Amino acid sequence: MNAAANLRDRMDPLEQLIQDAPGRIDAAETIVALDEIEADTVGRRSPIAEARSALGGIKDAADRGAAGKAINDIANDLTSQIAARRQVLEGAEVNARLLSDKVDVTLPGRVPRRGTHHLIQQTMDEIVDIFVSLGYTMVQGPEAETAFYNFTALNIPETHPARHESDTLYLDYGESDEEILLRTHTSPVQARHMEVNDPPVYIVVPGKVFRADAIDATHLPVFHQIEGLAVDDGITFADLKGTLAEFARQYFGVDTEVKFIPHYFPFTEPSAEMHAYTQGRWIELLGCGMVDPAVFEHAGYDPDAFTGFAFGMGVERMAMVRHGITDLRTLIDPDVRTLEQYR
Ligand code: DAH
Repeated sequence: MNAAANLRDRMDPLEQLIQDAPGRIDAAETIVALDEIEADTVGRRSPIAEARSALGGIKDAADRGAAGKAINDIANDLTSQIAARRQVLEGAEVNARLLSDKVDVTLPGRVPRRGTHHLIQQTMDEIVDIFVSLGYTMVQGPEAETAFYNFTALNIPETHPARHESDTLYLDYGESDEEILLRTHTSPVQARHMEVNDPPVYIVVPGKVFRADAIDATHLPVFHQIEGLAVDDGITFADLKGTLAEFARQYFGVDTEVKFIPHYFPFTEPSAEMHAYTQGRWIELLGCGMVDPAVFEHAGYDPDAFTGFAFGMGVERMAMVRHGITDLRTLIDPDVRTLEQYR
């Protein structure tokens, strides 16, 4: 086979290429497909490359030059067609990406479900806030308490029925005052606070308390109280009445009337129950009284130098009165339909 025939053989595939390639380039739908076509047409194993490698066989320099130029023209033409198609495809890909990333700002937003404080916590926060607005500070104490702070320091004698095993949840039996129990009220924090703080004292103490009671509509073995203690120079029963009446007005409404009924608590003398007139009836709200000198003595305060008042209220009771809840168990119902009513 002579060189010219050889070249013609090599040129035939080029003719084919000139015919087919433009259509294939135009039909390429993706950059990947176009890359393949590029390799087939102008790449290292393409008809163009083969034609170029056959150029050396043309002896006549002028013929060789002409053939080389012809091959280059074809190659340049195809390369620019491929480049043009590549631009089109790249533009389309960007558009497609923009389209799929599009955010429809007219869609309604997705509102995440929000949690909320339980009604008991809300009630506690609200009551504490009222006292904070009157100048009180919130303090807390341990739920596992010694018999000393829970009873003795509060002037509750060994013989008192509250100290009995059937009324109190003991964690550790032992020598009377060292026994460990789940506190039956928040009052022990009075004694703990006075032991390490000098007067004046104005504190409120929210927290959990525990009693050996079976669950029914009016009893829970775990419930919440808020204790209050004010000790200063010359505090009187009038201060107690004014403070607690103001609390009732803030919590139940400005017109709320209150009355104080004599009662007995070991840690106050005199002691009283405060009742409030709300929703058409008198309701007992809390226990209160002037701090018993024996409590001051246990705490290391001079009972001749200071006077004070204390009070204790049930948080669940406050929530029930305010929201008209008649069964305490509603407050420990984990059903979301119940909980959502008090958001
Ligand atoms: N600790 C009492 C109870 O759990 C409530 C109470 C009554 C607290 C009178 C007080 C108070 O501070 O003065 O029933």
